[in-house]
Amino acid sequence: MDVLKAIKERRTIREFTDQVPSEEQILTMLESARLAPSSINRQPWIFGVVWDKEKIKNLAKVTQPYVENAPVVIVGVANYGTSPEWYPVDLGIALEHMVLTAQSQGLGTCWVGTFEEEEVKKILKIPSKDLTILAMLLVGYPKTIPDPKPRKKLEEIAFRDEWDTPLF
Ligand SMILES: Cc1cc2nc3c(=O)[nH]c(=O)nc-3n(C[C@H](O)[C@H](O)[C@H](O)COP(=O)(O)O)c2cc1C
Repeated sequence: MDVLKAIKERRTIREFTDQVPSEEQILTMLESARLAPSSINRQPWIFGVVWDKEKIKNLAKVTQPYVENAPVVIVGVANYGTSPEWYPVDLGIALEHMVLTAQSQGLGTCWVGTFEEEEVKKILKIPSKDLTILAMLLVGYPKTIPDPKPRKKLEEIAFRDEWDTPLF
């Protein structure tokens, strides 16, 4: 699948079938994160892959209820001391690589950015020192494909050469 097709067809998926993505699919997603660019190539990321149903249930209690529907949760952990200025951008790029790789494999994802960080750390036994959780991705086969959400028009988000010159 080409990248633009994956971008166009991607939706946030919050409901999943019971089918669990294969280990190979998840490893392909992780490989796409591993290859992501980062500031000064610092790669300030570690990804927790949670398959354990009980842990996912517990994560749902400290994130959002629909997290429980996900057969796999990938947790994006940043070693923020390594790249204090750029770690959110670096992690964001790597996580979105995984989102598009998931899409290209027929999987759906949901970014989760609202959670109780210390509670998530406790559940996954992530040390508190030097590490922060940027976001999580729910991964699985979509139950239904939602309609696309609205986006701003191109002319609202870009200019040509100078601020006051419209793109077209
Ligand atoms: C950084 C980030 C954080 C997000 N956090 C959440 C979240 O906590 N819960 C949720 O349901 N969706 C979350 N989303 C999904 C957005 O709500 C969704 O991308 C947006 O509404 C556009 O819909 P679409 O992805 O289907 O195009 C997040 C997306 C991003 C990029």
